[in-house]
Amino acid sequence: MARTPFIAGNWKMHKTVADAEDYIQALLPLVSSIDGVDVAICVPFTDLQAMVDSTRGSRVEVFAQNMHEAEKGAFTGEVTAAMLTEIDVHGVVLGHSERREYYNETDRALAQKLVSALDAGLHPILCVGETEQERERGDTERKLRHQVQEGLERLTAQQIAQITIAYEPIWAIGTGKVATPDQAQEACAFVRALVGDRAADAADVVRVLYGGSVNAANAAELLALADIDGALVGGASLDAETFSQIVAAAVAS
Ligand code: PGA
Repeated sequence: MARTPFIAGNWKMHKTVADAEDYIQALLPLVSSIDGVDVAICVPFTDLQAMVDSTRGSRVEVFAQNMHEAEKGAFTGEVTAAMLTEIDVHGVVLGHSERREYYNETDRALAQKLVSALDAGLHPILCVGETEQERERGDTERKLRHQVQEGLERLTAQQIAQITIAYEPIWAIGTGKVATPDQAQEACAFVRALVGDRAADAADVVRVLYGGSVNAANAAELLALADIDGALVGGASLDAETFSQIVAAAVAS
């Protein structure tokens, strides 16, 4: 089954609303005529409303970078799925390794966040990936199995078919040290097989992205691989021109 490529730019904690407006005005004309690829920007909470307004009617979707699993409550500093959908946010990044590492995001909370996001109509991108030590110890598959199984635990087969999973080796994030095509393909194929263990039909439709030091020079090679359906791009997504080149690479490959 042909899966539409998906390129998502993860801004992390970058860009004020003024910066974001400059960026989106530059990006929209660059990507408006590139067909056959889904494009999203994953932006800080304070940029969401402005980016939703500025991208309305365009091909660019707007994602948040986190949300709380509960419907409401005493969780200072958090937002709910309904708060995101109320302002027409399309999706949300869940379980990015920075959130797992610095904010104690657990697989258990993520399993519930996936349910809450889907119930609200958000498109979740679940991030998984191993550390350098885990890879060196030969524990990459064990780590991925754990994260995917726990993350998908509460989803039905039908719900699983609606999510995106980003394989992001932690040692490749923000380091300039990109996974080799063999490493990236092998891990993404393994993630897809894990999805298939839970929901055979979903394995064909779930998009598996690669993330970790993707840039305009290496994108085409990675995106051409059989089990890589797109990219979650950090640093290289901050510049509109560079990001548009990665979007174009997804169609060419
Ligand atoms: P990077 O980040 O492209 O800057 O390595 C990727 C990510 O963290 O999603």
